[in-house]
Amino acid sequence: MDPSAIVASSLNKTFNTKTGLWKTKTKSTIAVEDISFNIERGELFGLLGPNGAGKTTTVKMLTTLLLPTGGTAKILGLDVVRQTAEVRRHIGFAFSGSRGLYNRLTAIQNLKYFAELYALDPAITRKRIPELLELVGLSQRGDDRVETYSSGMVQRLHLARALLHDPEVLFLDEPTVGIDPVGARELRQTIKNLISLGKTILLTTHYMAEAEELCHRIAIINKGRIVALDSPDALKRRISGDSVIEATIQTAQAHILMDRLRILDGKTVVELKNSTEPEKLCIRTPEPARVLELLSPYLNPQYIQGLEVRNQTLEDVYITIIQGEKE
Ligand SMILES: Nc1ncnc2c1ncn2[C@@H]1O[C@H](COP(=O)(O)OP(=O)(O)O)[C@@H](O)[C@H]1O
Ligand SMILES: [Mg+2]
Repeated sequence: MDPSAIVASSLNKTFNTKTGLWKTKTKSTIAVEDISFNIERGELFGLLGPNGAGKTTTVKMLTTLLLPTGGTAKILGLDVVRQTAEVRRHIGFAFSGSRGLYNRLTAIQNLKYFAELYALDPAITRKRIPELLELVGLSQRGDDRVETYSSGMVQRLHLARALLHDPEVLFLDEPTVGIDPVGARELRQTIKNLISLGKTILLTTHYMAEAEELCHRIAIINKGRIVALDSPDALKRRISGDSVIEATIQTAQAHILMDRLRILDGKTVVELKNSTEPEKLCIRTPEPARVLELLSPYLNPQYIQGLEVRNQTLEDVYITIIQGEKE
């Protein structure tokens, strides 16, 4: 038996789209380039990246919905291109904001409908539907129409639908997008319950905190390529020792403070975040005490209105990696 649940080997996907008025020109987009990873059984693996990074394209190739233009992928040892039908029997997937549930029907009616569509054994289905509703926290609402559900509840019902045939491997593409914080937290709890039941999950997200809370390992993907792959702790340790100092400043004085910090060597990165109001100076440094010493003459509201020193979060690491890629 193949020990890995999901194996991607040098996966590639190039989209060729016809453009121009007469559709004579062809535009090539490399959506996924040379992606490889092994996901163990029972693992919760995160694919983390900005919009357009290639997350959905990767998931679609792994779930047999899109043919790769290069490389191979296996689910439980089954090839996603040559053994499509067998792969589908073992996987479930839920895409964010996906349609396909019937709003006028109740949750139970929806699940019964899909169970019939998948030709599942009715005796098994009758037992499984209440179990699934319990698992996704919708037991109390099973007889309510889907149109009365919040977006978080709809997403959890999608999850129940994806689990009807009791798949071993689950793909969740941005499951918490567009869901309020409480709904998202409930959904994350449901995902944790699934892992404790022994499922293997590949989850995509562009929320760093979500990946950090849930995933055993994370692959950071940018412009179609994996730029880092490790456990959340290991990713954080990569730039370990560094602290982050965020100073809320008077805009007019920004250059004075930046000049002051210029004497520090290349290990300290100073960045002006002028997308925020008021502006913030973000300093990533292995020597926070030295930075504070340099800034100390300016610790008055004329220059610096607030100061926060903290350890790096996964979000800092993510931003450092993605920005490093741009240069
Ligand atoms: N069907 C398609 N035709 C052409 N280009 C596509 C298609 N699907 C995705 N792309 C392009 O591939 C890249 C990756 O997209 P996607 O996998 O959806 O990223 P993500 O899910 O990380 O936001 C983007 O540049 C996107 O525009
Ligand atoms: Mg996507």
